[in-house]
Amino acid sequence: MITSFLEKPADSPLMPIPETAVNIYTPKNPFPAEVMSKCRITDASSPNYSWHVVLNLKGSKMAGKYRIGQSVGVVPTGRFNSAEFNYAHEALNNKIRLYSITSACWGDDWKGETVSLCVKREIAEDEETGELVLGVDSNYICDAKPGDEMLVTGPVGKSFLLPDNPLDYNYVFTATGTGIAPFVGMLVELFNQGFEREVWLVFGVPYSTDIMYNEEFLYFAERHPNFHYTTAISREQTNARGGKMYVQDRLEEHQDGIAPLLAQSDTLFYMCGLKGMEYGIYPWLYRIGSNLVNLPDGLTVADIQGLSRNAPEWSKIERARDRKRLFKETY
Ligand code: A2P
Repeated sequence: MITSFLEKPADSPLMPIPETAVNIYTPKNPFPAEVMSKCRITDASSPNYSWHVVLNLKGSKMAGKYRIGQSVGVVPTGRFNSAEFNYAHEALNNKIRLYSITSACWGDDWKGETVSLCVKREIAEDEETGELVLGVDSNYICDAKPGDEMLVTGPVGKSFLLPDNPLDYNYVFTATGTGIAPFVGMLVELFNQGFEREVWLVFGVPYSTDIMYNEEFLYFAERHPNFHYTTAISREQTNARGGKMYVQDRLEEHQDGIAPLLAQSDTLFYMCGLKGMEYGIYPWLYRIGSNLVNLPDGLTVADIQGLSRNAPEWSKIERARDRKRLFKETY
């Protein structure tokens, strides 16, 4: 367990949350951040390899200036970006990939001089040739060693932040896979500021060996009865209909606790992770009659239940959400 970033040491002051700043470092002007440490956060027996990577921002203009919910870019460098080594030819380019920040604005050092990322190695096979295809940036980051220099840009994003008065709201956080990243830092920020309202975290992963930051969440759950933490383990558990257990099924299961909370205008809903989760979460929000979503003209709640993923109605549904209370970062 990585406990050091969960609770502020008694002798260090709590820095104020910074104003939102963006693009302090750009692709033309990246900051060379040193890799300080890294730690595997999926179990040793997991077929998925995810790492918590801590980067040093000391001396940069980004130190103490990023906010949780923002992302940083990492310039892909090294062997995974070479045609001799990596079959992922069409993926080989120097485009920056964005990663959601995992650490609270105070970093892992409580001074904001570090920033942490949660990165899963992308490993696949080419569908036609069966050859190994490796994510250019994710494998570069997961392979990095302490002391290596990594070119970073950002921070990026203004639309997935905590509000300016974060202690005045309830929260429902939903994540799949590495979409968990921002919720780690959000919980750290909330609890270290004395959060007393209600917060749910519903986290979907394929196997129980993939529950990243599980011990950290359990640590908070033990200390804060207002933190409701639950997982949806898709390839090990089944939902009430006998299908895969996804975050939307877990939300439904806990509907008695979550729906009344969502009905309050001071409850915010966040989703981060696979785009697919939206196709399950929106229909559920309509089913419970949530005021986070409005019915687009010409559609009924029943229509929205059976829509296929490529249905044109999805863009209307997305636009009909309450953008001040429902935030999403999906891909
Ligand atoms: P599965 O892959 O078993 O279908 P990861 O990014 O680590 O693969 O985890 C993503 C998690 O999100 C997995 O448990 C995955 O399940 C799940 N998932 C996939 N599609 C959806 C969807 N449409 N709605 C909700 N969860 C999904």
